[in-house]
This record gives sequence, C-alpha cells and structure tokens, in this order.
Amino acid sequence: MIKKLTLSALVALGLGTSGAMAAGGGEQHIENIDFSFDGPFGAYDVNQLQRGLQIYTEVCAACHGLKYVAIRTLGDDGGPQLPEDQVIEYAKQFEVFDADLDDFREATPVDHFPESNLETAPDLSLMAKKRAGFHGPYGLGINQFFKGMGGAEYIAALLNGYTGETKEQAGVTFYENTAFPGGWIAMAPPLDDESVEFVDGHANDLHHLSEDVSAFLMWTAEPKMMARKQAGFAGVLFLTLLSVLLYLTNKRLWAPVKYKNRD
Ligand code: HEC
Repeated sequence: MIKKLTLSALVALGLGTSGAMAAGGGEQHIENIDFSFDGPFGAYDVNQLQRGLQIYTEVCAACHGLKYVAIRTLGDDGGPQLPEDQVIEYAKQFEVFDADLDDFREATPVDHFPESNLETAPDLSLMAKKRAGFHGPYGLGINQFFKGMGGAEYIAALLNGYTGETKEQAGVTFYENTAFPGGWIAMAPPLDDESVEFVDGHANDLHHLSEDVSAFLMWTAEPKMMARKQAGFAGVLFLTLLSVLLYLTNKRLWAPVKYKNRD
C-alpha cells in the first residue's frame, strides 16, 4: 500500500513538474521565472515593485488603466511601500472626474488609478490573475504550488515575445508574438532595452524591465498575497497540531476498551 502510494506520488510529481504546459493550445512559448513571490513562503521584492510601478507609469499607463487599484495602496506593507508624501505626490499626476464638483480635479491617494486611455487596451489591474502561464486545466496543481499560476510569467513572456513581424488586417496592424494566444497581438512592442531609466542605475534591458513590470502587475492583481500565504501557513500548522492532539485523545479514550482483557 505504502509502496503504491509513494509510486503514484512520484508519478504525479514527475508529471506536474515536466516543464511549462501552455494553457491554450500548446503553441505559446512561456518560460518559468523564479520570482521572489513564488512558492509557499515567497514575498514581493519592494524594490522590484517600485521599479515596476515606474515602468507602468512611464510606459503602460499611456494606454492601459488600473481602475481597481487605489493609489493609497502604494504605501501598504507588502506592496511598493512608498512613503506617504510620495504617494500624495504620485497621485497628483492623474486627473479624475469628481461627480460632486462636476469637473475634473487632481487625484488624491484615496482615488483609484485612471481607467484605460485607449479603448482597445484592457485594464491591467487583474490581468496577472486572468492569464495563466502554465498548466491549464490538465495540470496537477503541483506546478502551481511551486511556481505560481504563471500570470506574471505570461506578461513577461508577452513583452519579450515579439518576433518583429507585422501584418495589416482591416486597417489594424498586428504584431507577431510568441506568447500571445493565436500569435498576433494588436499592441505594438511597448518596451525595449533602456525604455526606462532608474535613479539607482538598476539593469534596464528589456528582460529586466519586463520582469519588473510583471511583478508589479502581480501585486496589483493580488496585493494581499503575503498575508494569504501567512494565514495559510498558520492554518496548516494549527491543523497539524489539532490532528496530533485528536490522535492522542482518541488513543486515550479507547484505551480501556482495547486493553480490557489484558489486565
Ligand atoms: C500604445 C498603447 C499601449 C501601450 C503603451 C501598452 N499597451 Fe498593452 N495593450 C495595448 C492594446 C491595444 C492591447 C490589446 C491587444 C489585443 O488584444 O490584440 C494590449 C494588451 C495588453 C495585455 C493583454 C494581453 C492579453 O493576453 O490579452 C497585456 C498583459 C499588456 N497589454 C501589457 C502591457 C504592459 C505591461 C505595458 C507597458 C510595459 C503595455 N501593455 C503598454 C496597447 C498598449
């Protein structure tokens, strides 16, 4: 019995970790990235989130929105953790429509990020949870445990996946992309080497930039990931302890019955 169980566990592990399984059709090319937030004890890297925020603001925000994200959360623990004065300063660059004033005004930290500027560009707040990088419904969940769902990997692969080929269809230009389902996307390559400069001189080649902005979008989609993991860990610990106590209680309760004839 034990042997059989071990065997099936091994098979499951083997299948589960055998590389990146694309969610849709198998033609997408998405590689695993070892993000700091992967795994049961993973956590966001504050500096990476701050770089990602800068990339989002300078590049992606021209078309995309983050309408579900409140600007004040940029100061939260586990997020980019901007100091309060910087959050206030950051908010000022956006204009929001105020129904009370019936006019536009400068945003404050309690406001949300603006919606997408470009109608065809989807809102990115939850994109990292909406897309999966590997193991669709056929995955066994073991990948998910160790590597995450791969939403951040998908975004990074998308930003890196342009082949340079374009085609025109009904007046719209499509760009060939190895990560996008179907292979052709209507978004022109938004990032390139050195698109963004960091004050601390951090690496800004395309590869690093796309990882940083993907990590930031993972945070917008799941800002409480660290709290969730901690709660999960506490839960497992508690259940383990409870199981031990129940086992011992059970033994003690039945002991008189079990050993009745022996004394
Ligand atoms: C010039 C406008 C523009 C900019 C700048 C831009 N995007 Fe896009 N993006 C689009 C459009 C348009 C689409 C929809 C493409 C489609 O569905 O074919 C899109 C789609 C996406 C998608 C969704 C892909 C999917 O699976 O549906 C992601 C993710 C994305 N963009 C990320 C980014 C990131 C990250 C940045 C900044 C580094 C960025 N975009 C900058 C216009 C833009």
